[in-house]
Amino acid sequence: MDSEPVHADVALTVNGTGHRLRVDTRSSLLDVLRERLGLTGSKKGCDHGQCGACTVLLDGRRANACLALAVAHDGAEIVTVEGLADGGRLSPLQEAFIENDAFQCGYCTPGQLCSATAVLEEARRGWPSAVTADVSRDPFLDDEEIRERMSGNLCRCGAYVGIVAAVRDAAGEPNRAARDPGAVAERIGSARGGEASRP
Ligand code: FES
Ligand code: FES
Repeated sequence: MDSEPVHADVALTVNGTGHRLRVDTRSSLLDVLRERLGLTGSKKGCDHGQCGACTVLLDGRRANACLALAVAHDGAEIVTVEGLADGGRLSPLQEAFIENDAFQCGYCTPGQLCSATAVLEEARRGWPSAVTADVSRDPFLDDEEIRERMSGNLCRCGAYVGIVAAVRDAAGEPNRAARDPGAVAERIGSARGGEASRP
């Protein structure tokens, strides 16, 4: 026996704009963003939660939009890649991606940017990752931390070196110094020592 599709009303705030939509309850958030709202920045790579191309910020936390049912997020606040810039001004992270050549074809880039935006916030809040050695201290976004935290976002072009560099740049040295002054002083000291001992 054929069953009829079930529809439901949802309210979503996307990049600061409110929307009321009647959606098929089987619709993913990704399909609603792309097909109903015309926000095609979020990409469909695998549609199975494997690649991260569809990453958006959902109520302030990163999420794979292909795995989220739109109907389950009635009332949610969503930020997509289209909402990261401040008007015509790119975010520091977007600038860092350009400066570090952190992409090739660009297909994964919207997801990388949304994910990295959340990584910076997670580190700012002191949330540890699987590779944080000392969870009693705020995490320091070194390359190992960045790779671990960005491991859900695949890049088929292999632009990982640039992506890690961009996130590191966006995290910023002042941010690092404030977070871990001892480690920074140690690094400066060893760099000076290295210079002195250079032949
Ligand atoms: S399209 Fe969502 S994780 Fe790949
Ligand atoms: S830049 Fe091509 S998939 Fe990442």
